[in-house]
Amino acid sequence: MNILLVGPPGAGKGTQAKILEDRYHAKHIATGDMLRAEVAGGTPIGLEAKAVMDAGQLVSDDILIRMLGARLAQPDCAHGMILDGFPRTVPQAEALNDLLAASHRHLDAVIVLEVDEEALVARISGRFACAQCGAGYHRSFHPTAKDGVCDKCGSHEFTQRPDDNPAVVRRRLAAYREQTAPILPFYTARGLVHTLDGMAPMEQVTAEIEKILRQVGVAAPA
Ligand code: AP5
Repeated sequence: MNILLVGPPGAGKGTQAKILEDRYHAKHIATGDMLRAEVAGGTPIGLEAKAVMDAGQLVSDDILIRMLGARLAQPDCAHGMILDGFPRTVPQAEALNDLLAASHRHLDAVIVLEVDEEALVARISGRFACAQCGAGYHRSFHPTAKDGVCDKCGSHEFTQRPDDNPAVVRRRLAAYREQTAPILPFYTARGLVHTLDGMAPMEQVTAEIEKILRQVGVAAPA
């Protein structure tokens, strides 16, 4: 299974990708996470990307296309992938097409999560993650079972992304409208786009995605 999850910041791409990764044994590839790892590692890419990401703008196509090309060549992508955050521009969509064709792969579906922009700002500002294992939570919609303790690893330390504040979120939303939304006609023309309500409860969004996957002939492994 090879699918794209598309939607503005906070639409739930990462949340859904993690659920689908377990169920479908397909690799979740999030370019935002890859860039944050470069920033944390202080690499040349990270140094270039940090200021751009903190400002809520898009990192250059050149960097992203090279990074994604190298990632897709890794053996753990051979059984399928769930792309989250790539492509984000028309040149990235064209490059992905070429990369997939060169490795005899194709996309099964482009799933677009539609959301209300104002609600997104609340969603994103409530988001936090475990500093140890990276498990994601939300203060209202997905809190830890025990206050201040990670459900997965028991850590007491949590982090919040530097670009998750209302002013930067609004710039990220503008980048989505201006630079990312134009990829949708590219995929509509190829009959791949499926749009669903990303404001529905998480489990309902997952069920809707699974319905789409069945429609396009992708079954969850037994
Ligand atoms: P990236 O990390 O990709 O951020 P984003 O697209 O802004 O997406 P988010 O991770 O914020 O949101 P999400 O849709 O995954 O939502 P989530 O599931 O976490 O990119 C960061 C930056 O990197 C970019 O701004 C750019 O600078 C750079 N970058 C990355 N890729 C690039 C590219 N290809 N080209 C150029 N630059 C690139 O959910 C959000 C919260 O809501 C969570 O707390 C969750 O628990 C909650 N939630 C999720 N679903 C629901 C639901 N249905 N109901 C209630 N709450 C929900």
